[in-house]
Amino acid sequence: MIMGALDGRVAIITGAGRGIGREHALLFAREGAKVVVNDLGGSIEGSGSDVGAAQQVVDEIQAAGGEAVANADNVADWEGGRRLVRSALDAFGELHVLVNNAGILRDRVLVNMGEEEWDSVIHVHLKGHFVPSRHAAAYWREQSKAGHTVKASIINTSSTSGLLGNPGQCNYGAAKAGIAAFSLIAAQEVGRYGVRVNAIAPAARTRMTETTPGLSEVVKAPETGFDAWDPGHISPLVACLAMEDCPATGKTFFVQGGKVQVMVPWQMGKDLDKGARWEVMELAGQIEGLL
Ligand SMILES: NC(=O)c1ccc[n+]([C@@H]2O[C@H](COP(=O)([O-])OP(=O)(O)OC[C@H]3O[C@@H](n4cnc5c(N)ncnc54)[C@H](O)[C@@H]3O)[C@@H](O)[C@H]2O)c1
Repeated sequence: MIMGALDGRVAIITGAGRGIGREHALLFAREGAKVVVNDLGGSIEGSGSDVGAAQQVVDEIQAAGGEAVANADNVADWEGGRRLVRSALDAFGELHVLVNNAGILRDRVLVNMGEEEWDSVIHVHLKGHFVPSRHAAAYWREQSKAGHTVKASIINTSSTSGLLGNPGQCNYGAAKAGIAAFSLIAAQEVGRYGVRVNAIAPAARTRMTETTPGLSEVVKAPETGFDAWDPGHISPLVACLAMEDCPATGKTFFVQGGKVQVMVPWQMGKDLDKGARWEVMELAGQIEGLL
């Protein structure tokens, strides 16, 4: 029997009915993990729901001889997140990996953005990362306090839209930068229970990028040669971060095609320190030195 990199691991993957999450679920199962395939099954803007998206991926995994169950809970819903974690424990008796991947888009420039467009994107991404992480971390803390050795991993999904900035996506970018900060802080908190937390900033061809103005042409598959935008290229890094003995924690990685690159986080830059309170005009005369 061929050993898989994730043999014996139980993983939840959110938003795994399509796109990048679906690729994670298929690879995780091929590498021996038991997978909870979560997907609300809504439109790209987050409207509607359909359990069929998650179930289809489960059917594919089972047809290939793997183990998986479907879950259609909304990841941003407090009770939904609790049910999602419970569904892994009910189906497989344990949980080792949480991949937060679910997301939506409501692109609009700042001056035109409506309240609902702002709220829904922040809600699905930021709260949708917090809620499953919160319930999974509570389970792992309980395990750790009961004396069990925990070797768990959370992998979050950020984006260069937030880390580097992208006009037209101030809601999405703010949520994605928030997810990178959330990952860093969560890593600092839950390491003591045996839980590592990292984030990825992927770039791949999915319905998200196929419908983004300026990107739809760029992401097209080439007729020949390496297809760098294939969403399947994102998953090996996520599987690697999910492995029991992976040393990475508190990091964010850009990943596209064959490239995996660690992001350099915010750092303290040049400073002006007078050792006393500044006069406004005095500071105004020196501020250019920081720019
Ligand atoms: N495609 C890219 O190049 C790219 C770049 C940067 C970041 N990302 C991020 O990668 C992740 C996956 O995106 P994708 O490109 O595969 O898009 P996608 O639309 O193909 O997949 C997202 C999935 O999440 C599900 N989902 C949405 N809201 C949900 C909710 N509340 N609960 C459960 N499931 C929900 C959707 O039904 C969908 O199947 C997202 O977080 C996205 O922001 C993608």
